[in-house]
Amino acid sequence: MERNMEGTTVNVTVPAGAQASYEVRIGSGLLGRIPGETAELLPGARPFVVTDANLEKAGHLAAMAGDGFEDVYSIDPPGESSKTIETVEGIIDAMEQKRFGRDTVVLALGGGTVGDVAGFAAAIYKRGVPCVQIPTTTVAQADSAIGGKTGVDSKLSKNAYGAFHNPVRVYVDCATLRTLDDRDYRAGLVESVKHGMIMDAEYFGYMEAHMDGILARDDAALLHLAERNCAIKGRVVAEDPKEKGLRRILNYGHTIGHAVESLSGYALLHGEAVAIGIVGACRVAEALGSGAAEVTARAKAVLEKLGVPLRIEGIAKEPILDTMRRDKKSVGGRARFVLLKNMGETDPAGGGYAVEVPADIVDATLSELGAG
Ligand code: GLY
Repeated sequence: MERNMEGTTVNVTVPAGAQASYEVRIGSGLLGRIPGETAELLPGARPFVVTDANLEKAGHLAAMAGDGFEDVYSIDPPGESSKTIETVEGIIDAMEQKRFGRDTVVLALGGGTVGDVAGFAAAIYKRGVPCVQIPTTTVAQADSAIGGKTGVDSKLSKNAYGAFHNPVRVYVDCATLRTLDDRDYRAGLVESVKHGMIMDAEYFGYMEAHMDGILARDDAALLHLAERNCAIKGRVVAEDPKEKGLRRILNYGHTIGHAVESLSGYALLHGEAVAIGIVGACRVAEALGSGAAEVTARAKAVLEKLGVPLRIEGIAKEPILDTMRRDKKSVGGRARFVLLKNMGETDPAGGGYAVEVPADIVDATLSELGAG
């Protein structure tokens, strides 16, 4: 990883497994630079923009493109309900109708849904065209835009179909977070809390000490978060790009989190569901005797300051257990959890980073969290 400070811009280079590395450019007010810098990166490439109505309304598409791009696909409605194979089909049909070829570069301007769907469209269009990720939400800037995971939900589960397709560059423009609504802003910060908990106790301490500035969206706090998030995520995906072991730690809080997110019909935002899952994972570690009550208390205190829900409301235990058994970390239908040994340190579990947990402990934890 290399860093190069230029004014308010930080460049982070993420090694991408066997593929070439790519830069994550972090700063404030970067959008207007993207068309020119993309033309320098990929001379002659035809840009095709994927975004959604929220981004257009907030003025971010105009800030990036001016009058420059005619070829724009706006995902409608914005959000997780559009993270479907049909949306991907709509994008690639639009590119084909406009005679885009292998000289295409997809610019994905938006949150997690835009990035996942546009990245997947880029992965399969003409057997793969480059994609620039321009995440504009706390969840996408911290997590989903980096690391090359792309995909859509099926009718049965989250991220059921997809591909690893690394971006050719990522722009993290913290200024775009200013227009994000408060609920989305706070929920996405749970991914930052997760990063501190799994890998960097000092970073977690920074969030404990600077929560007022973070919630006020101070530039300095946002830049610090962006830099730490990209450094942590970059380090993990460089070591394990295809999630054979270490990358599973990025699923901390996701075993219960993904289940309650999809069973809520996506009424719970991803970060909100992960917050509940983090508290669950802390309590599971305590019940196994490997986790400390102090870690649980610190996690709860930070998440409470974010104002995200920490209890399961209106979802029965049996469907949660059933969905958890189908979690990608499950083995033989038995749910496994990423667990912490301490703040900033995960349990390597023999290199698999996922611990099988006795059914009675899982059951008791879900009851404690409020599952019916
Ligand atoms: N969002 C988890 C990962 O990128 O692996």
